[in-house]
Amino acid sequence: MSGTSKLTVVGAGAVGSSVAYAAMIRGSARHIALYDIAPEKTEAEVLDLAHGSFFAGSGEITGGSDVSVAAGSDVVVITAGAKQKPGQTRIELAATNARIMDALMPQLLEVAPDAIYVVVTNPCDVLTMLAAESSGLPPERIFASGTTLDSSRLRWEIARRAGVATSSVHAQIVGEHGDTELALWSSATIGTVPILDWTQDGAPLFTREDLDAIAADVRDAAYTVIRGKGATNYAIGLSSARIVEAILRDEHAVLPVAPVLHGVHGLDGVALSVPCVVDAAGAHPLPGTPFAPEELDRLHESAESLRRVAAELRG
Ligand code: LAC
Repeated sequence: MSGTSKLTVVGAGAVGSSVAYAAMIRGSARHIALYDIAPEKTEAEVLDLAHGSFFAGSGEITGGSDVSVAAGSDVVVITAGAKQKPGQTRIELAATNARIMDALMPQLLEVAPDAIYVVVTNPCDVLTMLAAESSGLPPERIFASGTTLDSSRLRWEIARRAGVATSSVHAQIVGEHGDTELALWSSATIGTVPILDWTQDGAPLFTREDLDAIAADVRDAAYTVIRGKGATNYAIGLSSARIVEAILRDEHAVLPVAPVLHGVHGLDGVALSVPCVVDAAGAHPLPGTPFAPEELDRLHESAESLRRVAAELRG
C-alpha cells in the first residue's frame, strides 16, 4: 500500500463501486473515497466496503455526496455517467456524458488540483479529449483507462487457447476503447514466441483468421457481458485499480491508456490508447512502439472517428 496515497472514485454505480472494491482488496491506495451525487446509495456503498476492510487490510474508506470528499486526492478515477444499454455503443453515450463531465471537472479540480485524472466514463477517449481541453491540464495528467481492459481480455483469450498464463501473453489492443479498436498482432508474443509462430502438436495454433476472430470477440466483449447482466463491472474495476497502482507506486509500467497525443505515431490533439509509461506524473506515450503499416492505418482511422465525435460535441 502506498504511503499516504488517496484515491477518489467518482460515481458509485456498478463500475465505480467495483473500482473502489478492487482497489481496496489490492491495497492500491491507503485512503479510498467514493463520491456520487446520490447520498443514500453512496453512503451505503461506503459502509458496505468499510465493513469488509478488516479482511482487506486496507486503510481508510470514506465518501458521500459532497465533492469535498475528493479533497487532496492523488488520483481521481471518474466513472460517473450514463451506462450502455444492451446493444448501445459507447459513442452513443457521448452527449449525455460530456455534459456530466463538464459539470464535474471544475468542481473536482477545485478540491483536487494536483490529482492525476483517469477517465473511465464512456466514451472514455472522447471525454478525455474534451476534459483535457476544458481543464487545461497537461496531457500526462488526464487520460482514459482506454484499452487496458481490452488488452486484458485479449491476453485472457490467447492464454486460454494456448494453455499458458495470462501474464505470459504480451499483446495489446490500441485505439478507441470501442468499435474501431485494433490488436497489435505484429508485436504480439507468447513468452518470446511471435504469436503466429506458436505451435501446438507441431502445427501453428493461430491462423490470421483466428486472430481476426479473437480481436472481434474482444471488441464485442462488453456487448456480450451487458446483454447477460446489464453492465460490466469486475474487470473494469480491476483494470482501473491496476492503473491507479502504476501511478501511486510510480511504477513506470507500460499500459495502453489514452492521453491526448501530441506528435506521437503521427497523431496530434486526439486521445486514444497507445502503449504509455504510467508513473507518478501520469501517462507518457512510448514513441518507439512498432506498428505494421496496416496497424498504423487502422490506428489513424480510429483516431479520425474519435476526432469526428469530439468535433460534433464541441458543436
Ligand atoms: C467495458 C466498459 C467499461 O468495456 O466499457 O467493460
